[in-house]
Amino acid sequence: MSCELSETATPEDFARPRWVGQPDVLERAQRLSQKFEEAYGRAPVGVWAAPGRANLMGEYVDFSGGMCLPFAHQYVTLTAAAPREDGVLNAQSMQDADESVADDRPRSTRIDDIEPGVISGWFGYVAGVSWGMNRVARGASAHPVAVPELGLPTSFGADLMVDSTVPIGAGLASSAALECSVALSLFSLNTGNDHPNDALRRALARACMDAENYIVGANTGGLDQTASLRSHAGEILALDCRDFDVVRLPADPALAGLTWLAIDTRAPHKLADGQYSSRRAECEAAAAVLDVPTLRDALPEHPTPDDAAAVLDRFDHLLEVGAELTEDRENTRLRLRHSMTEMVRSVQIADELHSDSPDWAFVGRLLVEGHESMRDDCEVTVPELDAAVDGCLSAGALGAKVVGGGFGGSVIALVSLESVDRLAAAVQLCFAQNGFREPLFLTLQPSEAGRRIL
Ligand code: GLA
Repeated sequence: MSCELSETATPEDFARPRWVGQPDVLERAQRLSQKFEEAYGRAPVGVWAAPGRANLMGEYVDFSGGMCLPFAHQYVTLTAAAPREDGVLNAQSMQDADESVADDRPRSTRIDDIEPGVISGWFGYVAGVSWGMNRVARGASAHPVAVPELGLPTSFGADLMVDSTVPIGAGLASSAALECSVALSLFSLNTGNDHPNDALRRALARACMDAENYIVGANTGGLDQTASLRSHAGEILALDCRDFDVVRLPADPALAGLTWLAIDTRAPHKLADGQYSSRRAECEAAAAVLDVPTLRDALPEHPTPDDAAAVLDRFDHLLEVGAELTEDRENTRLRLRHSMTEMVRSVQIADELHSDSPDWAFVGRLLVEGHESMRDDCEVTVPELDAAVDGCLSAGALGAKVVGGGFGGSVIALVSLESVDRLAAAVQLCFAQNGFREPLFLTLQPSEAGRRIL
């Protein structure tokens, strides 16, 4: 696979790249409202939106307490909602007509009947949120305190209609966008509060995580839901996954003439769920060898590359002297190396973004290191992702990396504003040369978190 470009190539030499247009959120919300009325015979009380996310660094470390650097992007999932008084939750989707995501499983349940293992398909994300809210309310989740405001009374029910502008299955957190828009709608219908503060948003994010972990059955780590509910326009979040504290980093690449380009490779997801869980299990096995609660605890407060190397040496030593390991030794060591170096890279980028004029070239180099680690140590990339990164770099991007869980999905690249078209054309050509599906291109802006729209 090669994505070397000739120096003289111009955009006109290549097939025209396909761009995903900017979402017209208000227009979509109005249309959704009408569809709601057609479906349920009454107007919704409101429409809520929650975005997907990108992540600069900190992949596969959220469940190990590492630092992630996400931002919410401008593509959102919308939920139109109205309350019921019979404890029933109904949902329909505007994507039902799309055969690739539609399913014909029931989308109606009594909220009291929701429990792990009973709901499948996309309705699991929706129903799971109401279950997760009650769990957080009574203090049964990993959230540090009970948050009674999230509790839904037994008689509470709702009719919902959802619509997504987030490309589905593209690694840009369409699932979290769905969960979080539902969470905001249910919370608001029940409490009348349309402006939950950060503490409530953190609790709602936990409810959405619980929905995903227990009702959907995906063992994910909270990065996506936190970004969707707690981001700010024009900022990156420094998210410490030990306690889900966030520090806001007002870092706008546009000030340096740069932007975030996303390439949805459209590579088919294969075996992704089992692979994600096995990566997590290997990280937990490494933590057990090191005798720490999570891998983050193996590093000092402000870790350096030397600290990461020292943890690997300690791991090797502990195995030499007979420590027990429950997973494959070679794989576990690779995942440990990814986790340690990734946690250090997150801290390095966060430090850089604290400065008034960040060195974006340095950030770009770290993005590439992050991608290489995802490819070689975490082993979650596919040829399309590697080609997209190669294509971006050979056409002059400052950096590029896979975003999210990998096994397909998207790459984000840091690129100069004037080179965006040329870069997209280069990646397009590279994909054509390799016989891959045609990719989709999006420019991503750090955008505001979930909110009421109508
Ligand atoms: C998915 C999961 C997240 C996170 C990323 C990888 O998006 O939902 O919790 O683990 O993968 O960084």
